[in-house]
Amino acid sequence: MQKNLKYYINKALNEKFALGAFNFCNMESLQGILEACKNNSSPAIISVSESALSYMGDEFTINLAKASKNIFPYLFLHLDHGKSFETCKKAVDLGFDSVMIDGSSLSFDENINLTKKVCEYAHPFNVYVEGELGQIKGIEDNVSYSSHLYTDPNLAQKFVESTNIDMLAIAIGTSHGVYKYQREQTLRLDILEEIEKLLPNFPLVLHGASTVENDLVDEINTYGGEIKKAIGIPKELLQNVVKNHNIIKINTDTDIRLAMTSQVRKYLMSFPENFDPRKYLVEGKNKIVDVVSNKICNIFYSNNKI
Ligand code: G3H
Ligand code: 13P
Ligand code: ZN
Repeated sequence: MQKNLKYYINKALNEKFALGAFNFCNMESLQGILEACKNNSSPAIISVSESALSYMGDEFTINLAKASKNIFPYLFLHLDHGKSFETCKKAVDLGFDSVMIDGSSLSFDENINLTKKVCEYAHPFNVYVEGELGQIKGIEDNVSYSSHLYTDPNLAQKFVESTNIDMLAIAIGTSHGVYKYQREQTLRLDILEEIEKLLPNFPLVLHGASTVENDLVDEINTYGGEIKKAIGIPKELLQNVVKNHNIIKINTDTDIRLAMTSQVRKYLMSFPENFDPRKYLVEGKNKIVDVVSNKICNIFYSNNKI
């Protein structure tokens, strides 16, 4: 059987692990993710947001991904939070393995229509489609709590049946960005269970799943950064949803940014005479290897699954 994304989604469902969907925005962040996956024999999704795609440009994005796949073929290029049919079409045409159409801010019917249209375009090319229902918010700097619009399980069932999506991103209390919560919070596992009852064995996706490690935030602040006290998603909650539920894709961007930035800051402050980008970027890349390896082995359990 061809070891494509569908193969690994099914494998993850059957063997109870999750594919990390790791965001990258430059060569070094992708190299870090690649090295962690290769070292641990882990399949993974390499994600680019619309803004990362526009930052790197189509050619660099596609060719960086191709280079990575040549080195380690168990990586799948994914468009994260595509907002329009046109962006998703572009990603399909460029050769992405999967796309997310994020119609979560639209009305239910508009979200269905847009998502269905993306599926109809993408599926003949064997490109998988992720849709989103409910809203996964992030806290802005001076707002205390994120507001969530949790996924309605009955609507989720109707959404999946009406659109023909391959994976569904759900809102059960996770949140994008570094400022997720001010105190520890649990996830709405009751909603997750209800969704799983109505959509048995259907691949589900968790966004906003960074753990926001204190040591990385502290290191950034020690070396001149200004990140306020931040609490991420507890590791134990992620382990639970991976082992006991149908969450087969977990998105991580913030932790990768923190890893890179902490080491770049530390290096530049520690060696102010040095101005060779290779010296500080490799420190950032190496920290990404550590952070991603830890997730693969201890949270997502995707090591040795190729
Ligand atoms: O889920 C959102 C990602 O973290 C993308 O963020 O648009 O700043 O690349 P970005
Ligand atoms: P974090 O901000 O928690 O890393 O979430 C990233 C994400 O969901 C990308 O789609
Ligand atoms: Zn997201």
